[in-house]
Amino acid sequence: MEKNDKILELFKEQKDSYLSGEEVSQSLGITRQALWKHIEKLRDTGYIIEAVPHLGYKLMRAPDKMLASEIKWNLKTKIIGKEIHFYESVGSTNNIAYELAEKGASEGSVVIADEQTKGKGRLGRTWVSPGKGGIYLSFILRPDISPNEVPMITLVVAVSAVRAIRKFAQVEALIRWPNDIMISDKKTGGILTELKGEPDRVNFVIPGIGINVNTPKGALPEGGTSLKEESKSSSDFKRVELAKIFFEILEEEYIKFKEKGFRALESELKSYSCTLGRDVSVTTGAKKKFHGKAVDITENGGLRVKLDDGEEKVFLSGDVRFMR
Ligand code: BTN
Repeated sequence: MEKNDKILELFKEQKDSYLSGEEVSQSLGITRQALWKHIEKLRDTGYIIEAVPHLGYKLMRAPDKMLASEIKWNLKTKIIGKEIHFYESVGSTNNIAYELAEKGASEGSVVIADEQTKGKGRLGRTWVSPGKGGIYLSFILRPDISPNEVPMITLVVAVSAVRAIRKFAQVEALIRWPNDIMISDKKTGGILTELKGEPDRVNFVIPGIGINVNTPKGALPEGGTSLKEESKSSSDFKRVELAKIFFEILEEEYIKFKEKGFRALESELKSYSCTLGRDVSVTTGAKKKFHGKAVDITENGGLRVKLDDGEEKVFLSGDVRFMR
């Protein structure tokens, strides 16, 4: 563990009292001057640390950044988030995660950013990712599945995100199949899953998720909302706390999926669905548009739609819009 992380750990264990400079430097095996330099570095990162002669140092506030050290603190996962790559600003976390995965990064590694300048959405759209307001992150997963099973990973992530948001913000988040997180029919989050694979086997999967947490409506595209807007909360949500809850739930759901298959998540997915029973349009990758009523989610996560001409069609992926 790096010295800065060790110092932070000592601060957090200490809670509200002062840490004696002498004791800290002794326990880290560094001089008082070296400790001071580390404290300065932490301050540069945004930590507010008070220094009082004869008493020592006290951590007053952690920065509102998705720092790896903050997310990892007391994180109860074994795979998801064991390795976290944090960036203040990047083009797209999905692109970085893809590059890391190609270089062999381990399953569960996470790339997270406070801002994206080229956030990618589905079907070539952009994902508006302003600084500080949201969670923008991508996972590296290496499931033993074939490329045509990858859409199920999107659903695993969607179910986990909705469960996490409900637990964290007490709002009724729902899934617009397969990848949109909705509150009161307004988009609050989205998932873009990319992969590298061979015809019958996946090398790695990169699910990327964006959640508008504190983002004001004015900074979002038409039809978008954020957890803060929907919960009418007057203070900002702690994004780090939401990320932790999400990682823990995702790990649980992902293990369930790997051990028992998609069926283990089917009923939970249905219970979070705001798609079933609605008149929808479904646009597929080939930009073909279908209309009908969403009637069911199949045992492999597909959306069964009774088309306007009476025929039933199962979609394994697609972009859904509500007709009314
Ligand atoms: C969509 O609804 O169209 C999917 C949006 C996915 C956005 C996330 S934000 C983190 C990750 N990095 C990206 O560039 N996109 C995904």
